[in-house]
Amino acid sequence: MWLQLSSWAALAALFSPLPAKATSLARDAPSDSTNSPSAAGTFAGTWYTTWHNGRVPIDNIDWKKYTSVSYAFVTTDPDHMVSLTADDINGTIFKDLVSTAHNQNTKVMMTVGGWTGSKWFSLLLAENYTRSNFINAVGAMANNYAVQGVEFDWEFPNKQGVGCNTIDKDDAANFLLMLQEFRQNPATSSYILSAAVSDKPFLNATGQPMEDMSEFAKVLDYVTIMNYDVWGSVDGILGPNAPLNDSCAPSEYQHGSAESAVDTWTKAGFPADKLVLGVPAYGHSAAVLPNNAYNNSELSIYPLIYNNASQVPGDSWDGKSGTDLCGVPWDYSGVWYWTNLADESLTSSFINANGTPRDGIDYLWDDCSQTPRAYNRSSQVMLSYDDVRSFGQKGTFIQEKGLRGYAIWEAAGATDVLIDAINSNMTGSKRP
Ligand SMILES: *[C@@H]1O[C@H](CO)[C@@H](O)[C@H](O)[C@H]1NC(C)=O
Ligand SMILES: *[C@@H]1O[C@H](CO)[C@@H](O)[C@H](O)[C@H]1NC(C)=O
Ligand SMILES: *[C@@H]1O[C@H](CO)[C@@H](O)[C@H](O)[C@H]1NC(C)=O
Ligand SMILES: *[C@@H]1O[C@H](CO)[C@@H](O)[C@H](O)[C@H]1NC(C)=O
Ligand SMILES: *[C@@H]1O[C@H](CO)[C@@H](O)[C@H](O)[C@H]1NC(C)=O
Ligand SMILES: *[C@@H]1O[C@H](CO)[C@@H](O)[C@H](O)[C@H]1NC(C)=O
Ligand SMILES: *[C@@H]1O[C@H](CO)[C@@H](O)[C@H](O)[C@H]1NC(C)=O
Ligand SMILES: *[C@@H]1O[C@H](CO)[C@@H](O)[C@H](O)[C@H]1NC(C)=O
Repeated sequence: MWLQLSSWAALAALFSPLPAKATSLARDAPSDSTNSPSAAGTFAGTWYTTWHNGRVPIDNIDWKKYTSVSYAFVTTDPDHMVSLTADDINGTIFKDLVSTAHNQNTKVMMTVGGWTGSKWFSLLLAENYTRSNFINAVGAMANNYAVQGVEFDWEFPNKQGVGCNTIDKDDAANFLLMLQEFRQNPATSSYILSAAVSDKPFLNATGQPMEDMSEFAKVLDYVTIMNYDVWGSVDGILGPNAPLNDSCAPSEYQHGSAESAVDTWTKAGFPADKLVLGVPAYGHSAAVLPNNAYNNSELSIYPLIYNNASQVPGDSWDGKSGTDLCGVPWDYSGVWYWTNLADESLTSSFINANGTPRDGIDYLWDDCSQTPRAYNRSSQVMLSYDDVRSFGQKGTFIQEKGLRGYAIWEAAGATDVLIDAINSNMTGSKRP
């Protein structure tokens, strides 16, 4: 409804017009152009979250290292269709991100949804009427903030995410209808269109991953495969956070990886150069007792987490106050961002800035997942993370598989050394 739309539009209108420069940035090649050169290795992306703006201001990031940044998040809401979150309710951060990134010739996307912003997707997309209102609301916001594209991050179609999302067996089919209508609508047809997705394709009406995603590939410029949190504390085992490979792991520990995800998505009809690999500038930590932490004299790759109902705090950005949108109290995440991990001034971290383990820390490179892990014997905390070496390997993998590129979660957690490691092994990521 335009009435509903007008409330945020009025809010956005409080701000001065966005720079004209925005419109001069070229859109990605249209998805139906068969003669265009491959987009392989050309995409160096990240997300900028509003809630870390106070930690790492927009000006502190060298946007020239990225070809694209997505604003996180615009959330779904049943009344206004889409809205900014409380930590950027006036859109000040959004505006600043767009003008700063555009000044460095970096494209800006707008991510709609996310873990806590997917609650109403199912409901909004189910009816023709609400679906077209939703498209209009998203298009109007994209236009108002002068972004080049829109990324939908629905966690997840026909599968519960945060715990209280609306959900329906026809979610994937309705998602496809919405994307097709988004492409057809003259007001939204020229935006870059993408989706953030899991290692496996969307679940169909009978709850199985779809085997044919080619209709999605026709309307989306690319999907970003969120190959992280593959193992988290909820599994009771601290496996690799972002495995590059898992077909070399014992069968009971094959939970997904970049390799198996790319295999699944390409078999389902997605061209490799429409796949962006999501990579984490963070690791997960958890309490692990010494007798589970070691396998002979080496660190275990799949250790049992001790008392997994009580998560240990991660880095200094971690907190547990308040409740989530479902009314469940927030627990610690146990997350360590690379920025903090590699911070020499933090005595409680696991590694030095050059990536070597600190005194009292045991370290293991896992040849299968091609990721490191570290263990503090005194505090009995283990960390499964990514570093310069694993980012380099992921860059090589992107290049070899002909993927479009990578997207780092998230800009505030990454440092130049990490971005350079993945860029250096991707020939196409060099900025003009
Ligand atoms: C948002 O705008 C309102 C109205 O102009 C103002 O009162 C409020 O302080 C602003 N909030 C922030 C976080 O800037
Ligand atoms: C809803 O949209 C679908 C797909 O465009 C169309 O086939 C159908 O007729 C529409 N239904 C109504 C009630 O308008
Ligand atoms: C869902 O996908 C599975 C294969 O992954 C297929 O066997 C099944 O028929 C599909 N269900 C529907 C409703 O399309
Ligand atoms: C703890 O781990 C067990 C498996 O060891 C799992 O069944 C249970 O769901 C986990 N509990 C929580 C709260 O994560
Ligand atoms: C993954 O492991 C399999 C089995 O060991 C191996 O054949 C394949 O080359 C590995 N892939 C990568 C990207 O390391
Ligand atoms: C311990 O090491 C053996 C041999 O490498 C391996 O088969 C087993 O899965 C490992 N156990 C854990 C918990 O990592
Ligand atoms: C390891 O844990 C101990 C006990 O909590 C702590 O004092 C120490 O700073 C930690 N070491 C490192 C290098 O983080
Ligand atoms: C690039 O890939 C090669 C081979 O996989 C690897 O040895 C090298 O360390 C990688 N570069 C970086 C910066 O990690």
